[in-house]
Amino acid sequence: MNQLTSCHIAVLISGSGSNLQALIDNSIASNFKISAVISNNPDAYGLQRAERDGIPVQVINHRGFDSREEFDLALSNAIDEIGVDLIVLAGFMRILGSTFVNHFSGRILNIHPSLLPRYPGIDTHQRALDAGDKEHGVSIHFVTEDLDGGPVVAQDRVPVLKGDTTEELAARVLEKEHLIYPKVVSWFASGRLRMKAQHAILDGEPLPPTGVEVHRDTITEPSDIHLPDHL
Ligand code: GRF
Repeated sequence: MNQLTSCHIAVLISGSGSNLQALIDNSIASNFKISAVISNNPDAYGLQRAERDGIPVQVINHRGFDSREEFDLALSNAIDEIGVDLIVLAGFMRILGSTFVNHFSGRILNIHPSLLPRYPGIDTHQRALDAGDKEHGVSIHFVTEDLDGGPVVAQDRVPVLKGDTTEELAARVLEKEHLIYPKVVSWFASGRLRMKAQHAILDGEPLPPTGVEVHRDTITEPSDIHLPDHL
């Protein structure tokens, strides 16, 4: 990536695209540019958000392919053709196979609505409620072959309140998601964040297994980064 130009990203979505919207809103004053939005779902509302902002969109409907490998290949070819520095999964509801993940190794980020390693997979909010957790949250991680198991870059937390419904808890987490994702993408865009040997590296230092904690009220740098003492 040329230091003088923005980091070009492709955002992959399947649904509402509220995280995409947060990225769009923040990209204006940031160091990354959304070059394309790709959806596997032709009805994803996020496509309208992108079009409203003049961002090129593509629909690659997984239903049109006989196998996951063929879908992954079409997706991979489309992304190669656009030519991006980073792939940002934002509510993209397809599991990407090893060929795809290895092709773009170290260049795919995902947002997951739980404090990984708790609750990989789906229904994270309900699972946190069922477990009686006092805290819940969001993780951003690099994507590897391990589902929701790649190195965590950053997390933010919310309290689980008495009587919370799944929807209330999801909304509280989503608010944090919209703050943390543009932040982490900008770290990658500036070259501060990389994945090396299955570790997330920030400013040359390996991050702890739960990444850095990003707090909403201390969102400006460098005070938003809280590394453990030994780092
Ligand atoms: C978010 O909760 C994200 O963490 C999860 O899917 C949801 C997508 O929401 N992966 P949106 O499409 O960005 O509104």
